[in-house]
Parts: sequence; structure tokens; C-alpha cells
Amino acid sequence: MQNKENAVIRAILGRRSVRRYENTPVEREKIDALLECACAAPSANNFRPWHFVAVTERRALNALADAHPYGRMLAEAALAVVVCAEKERDGAADVWWEQDCGAAMENILIAAAALGLGSVWLGVHHSGSLPDKVRGLLGIPGHVQVMGIAAIGYGAEAKPAHEGLDPVLVHREHW
Ligand SMILES: Cc1cc2nc3c(=O)[nH]c(=O)nc-3n(C[C@H](O)[C@H](O)[C@H](O)COP(=O)(O)O)c2cc1C
Repeated sequence: MQNKENAVIRAILGRRSVRRYENTPVEREKIDALLECACAAPSANNFRPWHFVAVTERRALNALADAHPYGRMLAEAALAVVVCAEKERDGAADVWWEQDCGAAMENILIAAAALGLGSVWLGVHHSGSLPDKVRGLLGIPGHVQVMGIAAIGYGAEAKPAHEGLDPVLVHREHW
């Protein structure tokens, strides 16, 4: 299909959770591009509740790997982007912060795929004491929500791209 030659569609379908990485740093320009794409996500009422903490120091990445019950790959990753949110600002509450952060996270993962990087989304919010542990490790203020972490690096595993529609899940015109 001709659409599949489109670079954006290739990056979306080609994005897979990559949990093994080469021992190679991610260039500063690529980190900045990922963060720029994160900030370009859609946001309800344009509240833009997000904050991003980019972590490249080995000791901090190892500490995050120790803290996250399903995040061992952070000990190999060259970069983690911690996606956070202020769900209240100047007296105004934002009930959409999780969706906004999800959109920002997905932008990071797709941009990573487009730049030849492997990545995986690690959930943090709704994971017991994990948000507090991450706050403590990175100096994130107590009122800031920690939505998730993108573990990123040059991938050391290859996975096939996503392909095809699932007819059980896709409905047309009505359920
Ligand atoms: C909210 C959320 C939390 C996730 N948490 C983890 C996690 O803690 N550890 C992990 O290895 N993968 C995690 N994943 C990645 C999923 O396991 C993965 O996206 C799913 O298996 C589909 O595979 P794919 O990303 O290659 O398409 C998470 C994904 C989402 C959306």
C-alpha cells in the first residue's frame, strides 16, 4: 500500500517496545528533538500540564532501574525521559493531564523510532509507591504527578513492525 511508504506511518507502525540497547549514548540533538516532539502533543484546553525530566547519568538510570519493578532495561538505556504533570496551575485544575501526558509519551516513542532509536513506555502512575520513589530520586516536587518513563537507547533487538487491522476491534459506522 502506497501509504506505508510514508515516513510518519512507517515510524508509527515500526515502533515496537525495545528493551535491549547498545552501549551508545544518544546525541544531544536527538534528545532535544524528542523533547520538542513531546512538547508538540495535543493538550486539552491547551493546558499543557506536562514537564519532562531527561536523564542520562548512569547512576540515576541504574537507580530508576532498581526502583521500577518492570524497568530493568533502564540499566542498559542511555536515556530516560520521565513524563510528569502539574494537574493544577494558578488555581485552575486540569482533569485531562493523563491523556495529555499519554499523547506526549507517544510522540516521544514515535519520534524515537523515526530517529533510529529503540524505546519502551514504562508505567509509573497507579503503581503504588513508585511515583514517590521516582520523585525522590530525581527531585521532582511532591505536587507533580509522575505519569511514566520512556526508556530509550540504540536498540539491540529487532522486532517486526505492526501490520493490519484487527477486525474484532475495528467497527465501521456502528459497533
Ligand atoms: C501505560 C503503559 C505502561 C507500560 N508499562 C510497561 C512496563 O512497566 N514495562 C515494560 O517492559 N513495558 C511496559 N509497557 C509496554 C507494553 O508492554 C507494550 O507496549 C505492549 O506489550 C505492546 O508491544 P509494542 O509496544 O511492541 O507494540 C507499557 C505500555 C503502556 C502503554
